[in-house]
Amino acid sequence: GSTQTEIKMSTETERRVENLLDRSKDVAAKSSSTSTFVEGGKKTLTTLPISISESISSFNASKEKFSAQLRDLQDSKKASQSARAMLAFRERLPAYKMKDEFLTAVAENQVLVVSGETGCGKTTQLPQFILEQEIEHLRGADCSIICTQPRRISAISVATRIASERDESIGETVGYQIRLEAKSSKLTRLLFCTTGVLLRRLVQEPDLAGVSHVLVDEIHERGINEDFLIIILRDLLPRRPDLRVVLMSATLNADLFSKYFGNSPVIHIPGFTFPVTEFFLEDIIEKTRYKITPEFDNYQGNSRRRRMRQSSAKCDPLSEMFEGVDIDVQYKNYSISTRQSLEAWSSAQLELGLVEATIEYICRNEGDGAILVFLTGWDEISKLLEKIKGNIYLGDSNKFLVLPLHGSMPTVNQREIFDRPPKNIRQIVLATNIAESSITIDDVVYVVDCGKAKETSYDALNKLACLLPSWISKASAHQRRGRAGRVQPGVCYRLYPKIIHDAMPQYQLPEILRTPLQELCLNIKSLQLGVIAAFLAKALQPPDPLSVKNAVELLKAIGALDETEELTPLGRHLCTLPLDPNIGKMLLIGSIFQCLDPALTIAAALAHRDPFVLPINRKEEADSAKRFFAGDSCSDHIALRNAFEAWKDAKHGGRERAFCWENFLSPITLQMMEDMRKQFLDLLSDIGFVDKAKGAKAYNQYGDDMEMICAVLCAGLYPNVIQCKRRGKRTAFYSKDVGKVDIHPSSVNARVNLFPLSYMIYSDKVKSSSIYIRDSTNISDYALLLFGGNLTPSESGEGIEMLDGYLHFSAPKNRLQLIQRLRGELDKLLQRK
Ligand code: CDP
Ligand code: MG
Repeated sequence: GSTQTEIKMSTETERRVENLLDRSKDVAAKSSSTSTFVEGGKKTLTTLPISISESISSFNASKEKFSAQLRDLQDSKKASQSARAMLAFRERLPAYKMKDEFLTAVAENQVLVVSGETGCGKTTQLPQFILEQEIEHLRGADCSIICTQPRRISAISVATRIASERDESIGETVGYQIRLEAKSSKLTRLLFCTTGVLLRRLVQEPDLAGVSHVLVDEIHERGINEDFLIIILRDLLPRRPDLRVVLMSATLNADLFSKYFGNSPVIHIPGFTFPVTEFFLEDIIEKTRYKITPEFDNYQGNSRRRRMRQSSAKCDPLSEMFEGVDIDVQYKNYSISTRQSLEAWSSAQLELGLVEATIEYICRNEGDGAILVFLTGWDEISKLLEKIKGNIYLGDSNKFLVLPLHGSMPTVNQREIFDRPPKNIRQIVLATNIAESSITIDDVVYVVDCGKAKETSYDALNKLACLLPSWISKASAHQRRGRAGRVQPGVCYRLYPKIIHDAMPQYQLPEILRTPLQELCLNIKSLQLGVIAAFLAKALQPPDPLSVKNAVELLKAIGALDETEELTPLGRHLCTLPLDPNIGKMLLIGSIFQCLDPALTIAAALAHRDPFVLPINRKEEADSAKRFFAGDSCSDHIALRNAFEAWKDAKHGGRERAFCWENFLSPITLQMMEDMRKQFLDLLSDIGFVDKAKGAKAYNQYGDDMEMICAVLCAGLYPNVIQCKRRGKRTAFYSKDVGKVDIHPSSVNARVNLFPLSYMIYSDKVKSSSIYIRDSTNISDYALLLFGGNLTPSESGEGIEMLDGYLHFSAPKNRLQLIQRLRGELDKLLQRK
């Protein structure tokens, strides 16, 4: 239904809109007269390392000479002692035995699929075989091999490894390129890059001119970028008959890809792995004699369990865990329905004490060898890190080296993982599923697996997306286990019952089927791949048309696409940011409107998570701490921003711990937000919107202006709007998609009865007993008028209407002109950059 309200284009609102317009002009003037912004906005292109095609053209005159030089270089390196030692190692890899077969297949087929167990040498050897052969056959000058990696860290580690196998420095014939960081040169013939980097390169080089081979790695993971890339490659093949494509997979389901490419041949590399003994939770509890602690919060609000707890002295821990969900469980012979138990366990939190106990058990009772622990995210990793540091036995740094490994860690720290620890020190690596298949850590003999990974899921009907730990697939569990058997027989400790393992799905659902698609749709447009829906129908497993429709509508609503589905100036900028378009827009508008500092903080919390923690038994105090930060703003986002500022002060004054404790804030999350703010600033600087050397404060003239912050928030969060309607002494809330909604009890707005302004903008909604709006901010019409909704000229008065899910403003032409002018001004600003 649609709801019509009186538009309050009072003189007051008009004055404010005018005022905002003046301010934006002010900023515009500044940006052109002084060099507030980096010129051109296309800085990315010029600062990128020289692309391979470019280097080829500069060598064109003497191609033969160059090829000969490359061969001489290769030959001289081959003779070196370290390369010979490396060759002995390489020859033992299963992939090496397939060298000739592989090279023949590449020569004879345009597309080839290769599968083989992790560690068999796919990533380090296959691209290298091609490289060696091309150089050997004096085709070095014409050779340009690109190998994509789903993650930044693997691009670096693999390139570095191959360079050392070739006894070269990184950036000579082998290089890498990830967002904001690259090592390559005119010599570079084999480039490892993230899939995202290759996708961006396709914008400039749609035919990949100059590229001779593309290898797409870790294809079994079915990441959204990889699924996207293979559609493009399949379309490109007829136009580039000389291009060779190799898809590499760590699992056996290679046929799927082969079929997609018209039954292209498949090569399987038979692997060797040492046997791995496996233990499940039931065995582990017996071994470690670990007692599941009463605080173990398996299921929230579970009274039956609490009752059990009081008399739990001799109660079986496992059945207690199951007890909570009212499933009839007997410990020794599981009679529960597995589906139910999977769901129940999904909401259970991992007990870190058990992980710690398992690690200690291994260290005390088992032989040498590194331990690899799989956890779901940064929070668990850092908490466990603390626990181990505080453990009397494991805390001894002369005996144990504990290293975190997480995708969003700075790359410098990540590299520590690959340095061998000194002898007699046992390495304990705490990792996310990043260590599952793309990263090989030497010497791992023990794997401790929590059985879960963070996974996004998307409910297209309710437009709900969430990122939650959920059970991995059997294929992933197998991968994790396999990490233990690479150097000698190993042991895998699975912190879940066998019955859970048996109930795991065979493979994980591909990412393209379980995430919101707006970022992907934007990329389709920036690569000029035609109509979005038609293009996505060509995917290996096409996404739900409703998800596609939602994404396209959203992009239109935020102004990234116009009515004909073409990119707007804003859309073009958003394409250059590897971020959710809403978050990207908040940052762009924040920098343009000189409100960057709060925009960075709020965007960081949106992209990562809320730093406010919710202690079960001190909820009252936690709520009032949050309300204190909100002041009278009626905004969770302002609370967040104020809390972040206060944290920075406290940290500066050396009072971080006490401050976080008193205010129910997570120092880990705040630190992560701080890091993300830096990354965002780097990204904005990279596309020429700001100069990062000047820092966020240089773009923050209106950073304390609440109206301005709310306008920027609105720019970033639209179309997440709900309407506040007065119902007697209270307010009722209506959402455009789902009707009546409630404010989440943890929000600072939960207990406000009447709001000064008539709309709420929010970051996400969650569905439990009702649909709840999580973080919200009360905003005025004028912010909405500027950044959201369609403008419809009307002679019959003024109004804001919610139609087909989006806001429509109708007003007489002359009234709308003001808003149109303002939006036009913004467009001009964006166009100029
Ligand atoms: O790609 P795949 O999992 O098949 O194996 P790979 O990454 O090519 O690794 C092959 C072997 O090279 C591994 O078994 C490791 O022993 C070694 N390697 C290494 O020592 N350091 C690296 N950064 C990567 C691989
Ligand atoms: Mg690999």
